[in-house]
Amino acid sequence: MLVVAPLREAGHQVKVVPTESALNFVGAPTWEALSGEPVSTSVWDNVDEVAHVRIGQTADLVVVAPATADLLGRATHGIANDLLTNVLLSTTAPVVMAPAMHTEMWLNAATVHNVSVLRRRGVHIMEPDSGRLTGTDSGPGRLPEPEAIAEFALAQVHDEGASLAGLRVAITTGGTREALDPVRYSGNRSSGKQGMALAEAARARGAKVELIMAATDVPAPTGVKVIKVESARDMQNAVANAYDGNDVIVMAAAVADFRSASYAETKIKKSHAAGEEESAPVIELVRNPDILAGLVKRRGSRTTPVLVGFAAETGDENGTILDYALAKLEHKGCDVIVANEVGEGTTFGQDSSTVHILVAGSDQPQRYGPAPKRESASAIWDVVEQLIPSKDAVESN
Ligand code: C5P
Repeated sequence: MLVVAPLREAGHQVKVVPTESALNFVGAPTWEALSGEPVSTSVWDNVDEVAHVRIGQTADLVVVAPATADLLGRATHGIANDLLTNVLLSTTAPVVMAPAMHTEMWLNAATVHNVSVLRRRGVHIMEPDSGRLTGTDSGPGRLPEPEAIAEFALAQVHDEGASLAGLRVAITTGGTREALDPVRYSGNRSSGKQGMALAEAARARGAKVELIMAATDVPAPTGVKVIKVESARDMQNAVANAYDGNDVIVMAAAVADFRSASYAETKIKKSHAAGEEESAPVIELVRNPDILAGLVKRRGSRTTPVLVGFAAETGDENGTILDYALAKLEHKGCDVIVANEVGEGTTFGQDSSTVHILVAGSDQPQRYGPAPKRESASAIWDVVEQLIPSKDAVESN
């Protein structure tokens, strides 16, 4: 509860958003005295200032300490029935939670599930301490010391040195789906994991992240703006809207190269007529727009946004993976190509990958991996952030 003190001592402005139950332990006047800021718990206070979204939108970090079993459950399900849960839903800042509860509640399957879902979304959840709990109980579930929570929380903001602070990035992820009729589509096996890892890493470095998300197996991390799309043409529109105002556009999505030439407004029927039982429709395909190529053309001779493409590649008897990646970099005209090594059990749907990062104009490709996609995402940002022209301007401000 007194995490406010070490955060303020570290020079941060702290806005306390207690839940109704927190006020049973420490009253609003005490919170106001500790934080030096007015305190409210209800979404109906300061309605003219739209506090229920403004607090989350303007925060650089949201710390929930203690995070009760009830709060973890509400956060997992996106329930927004008080000011704190509204803040959690509207923030794009890193979120840190320090759970505290009785051991049985901490180990309960519902809590274990909620913690795992929140972690997958990118919420930074501390392990509780083990020791004396309220009453005579003892075990894991104890709230860590305020200084330890503050240190853990601040480490998430300064993760990787906030090297993308003040910058905006758009990232496409997942695999597009091309509708054939109201019930069928053609798609691909992209899991979206690499794009999610890139979004999480960019947010951890302080960027404002816009995630243009096609079909994926994994949830988007917290703290990023999500725009859902289905087809390549939907994605093209979303990317066109994101073009202005973003410093980097990363095309990590697997975009379908082809779609059906026509869309059947009603379900394509299977014929049961005699002599037609074996018949099947022939689907004519047409090319989809190459979104990345369109971005390169639109940018012309300008240097922003930095454009990053991906390639799933293998080597063969005619060339190595690097030969193919280099040819793609030149052909696409983007600034960076990240080539994923494709093979049995690698890249698609996996948590690990081996990437080759190729930068236009440099003959020093970097190989990274095999490594968790989280780590290769970080290696990719290490390279890409050096190419952002406005970064120097931001840093010298
Ligand atoms: O040409 P290829 O599909 O191998 O290029 C892959 C890169 O181009 C990826 O970054 C992908 O997101 C992007 N792409 C695109 N539009 C397409 C196909 C791929 O922007 N129609």
